Amino acid sequence: MKVRKAVIPAAGFGTRFLPATKSQPKEMLPIVDTPVIQYVIKECVDSGITDILLVIGKSKRAIEEHFDRNFELEHELEAKNKTELLAEIRDISNMANIHFIWQKELNGLGDAVKYGRTFVGDEPFALLLGDTLLGTNDELGRPITRQLIEICERFESSVVALESVPPDKVERYGIAGGDEIEPGILRLNQLVEKPKREDAPSNLAIAGRYVFTPEIFTYLEDAQPGKNNEIQLTDSMAKMLTDRGMHGLRFDGKRYDIGNKLDFLKTNIEFALKRDDVGPGLTKFIKEIAADL
Ligand code: G1P
Repeated sequence: MKVRKAVIPAAGFGTRFLPATKSQPKEMLPIVDTPVIQYVIKECVDSGITDILLVIGKSKRAIEEHFDRNFELEHELEAKNKTELLAEIRDISNMANIHFIWQKELNGLGDAVKYGRTFVGDEPFALLLGDTLLGTNDELGRPITRQLIEICERFESSVVALESVPPDKVERYGIAGGDEIEPGILRLNQLVEKPKREDAPSNLAIAGRYVFTPEIFTYLEDAQPGKNNEIQLTDSMAKMLTDRGMHGLRFDGKRYDIGNKLDFLKTNIEFALKRDDVGPGLTKFIKEIAADL
């Protein structure tokens, strides 16, 4: 059950970030100075993943170039003796084996995941949504994907990261119901995509990180359009859950939603405040402007 592959869907138009996303993918938007997608790939690498498939759409060239070598830039940094930056830039292209596939039409998350079938083959794999970052409070510093992999290996079942959301927000997410079998780990009995508040089995939302056994593809193959007339991953997960069981991890950490403007700005501020280079200056600036509000 060793998990060494990951799939990252990154084909959306990023309409909420136009015009910034007119010619660059939203996954390339920076959190301080690092594109969102680089954080997601680092989570994979830190979780033991060696091969990553990015499901991309049009205007995704920047992602490819970001993870490729850039000899001109390296030469320039070398000439200017910027050794630290040079090492950082080189490391990006050595992070993992990164593969690409183009999603032909945008038919929903379930459809995007289907593109991973040949790449994944007959192995369990991780799925990470490219517009979400998850911070962990784990004492050992294990990323959430690592924690999911360990649960998948232990129970030999698919597993999904869950986050408690306020009851008035359940309509925005896939929602899971289940029984807590040990602290933080649930045996699921229900999964429903974007339910009405009164129909939600709980307030535990699917948080953008999953580890699947390869059978998920069988369910996706037969999937029909669901909510919003899109192929919903959650619908196939619900079928798989009925046949094979599934687990959930109510993770200890924080979700950063990069898919909307306000949370994107908050994430940038939170990450910047923690940094030695810009943190102190930003703290001072925030205090100054807050005094005038
Ligand atoms: C997708 C999934 C949903 C999940 C959410 C997390 O929805 O379909 O189950 O809770 O991601 O961000 P989307 O945000 O793409 O509408």
